[in-house]
Amino acid sequence: MLKSVVAVASDHGGFDLKLAIVKYLEDLGCEVLDLGTNSLDSVDYPEFANLMATAIKDGRCERGILFCGTGIGISIAANRHRHIRAANCHNVTEARLCRAHNNANVLALGGRTIGLEVAMDCVRVFLQTEFEGGRHARRIAKMSD
Ligand code: RB5
Repeated sequence: MLKSVVAVASDHGGFDLKLAIVKYLEDLGCEVLDLGTNSLDSVDYPEFANLMATAIKDGRCERGILFCGTGIGISIAANRHRHIRAANCHNVTEARLCRAHNNANVLALGGRTIGLEVAMDCVRVFLQTEFEGGRHARRIAKMSD
């Protein structure tokens, strides 16, 4: 998993954390698809959530990481797309369980709410953890009908 393409996107509130996580992903050996934003200028997070949804739908990446000030707005926007399961995580346990139980394909992090060390741990565990399937697959299927 760590070798595949990981997409990242943020608004201005998540921009600094996105930059730091791009470097971390590269250190882990990931190929990074950066969908913006590219500065601290104010932008609207739904646009970047939509870019992520399109990249996953097109098969340009399997998983993505979104960033805004809290991770809340951009995860709500991403979850408007039926094929996206975005999880706003604040610790490594949530990052593990959103993969193992919810088969989350997008991790959402808050640039203003969590520190870099926690964010890096969330990213690593999100990418390393496989979906458990079984009863969890049945529940996810009920959200896709
Ligand atoms: C932008 O100021 C901020 O509202 C946004 O990054 C995010 O936190 C929204 O959920």
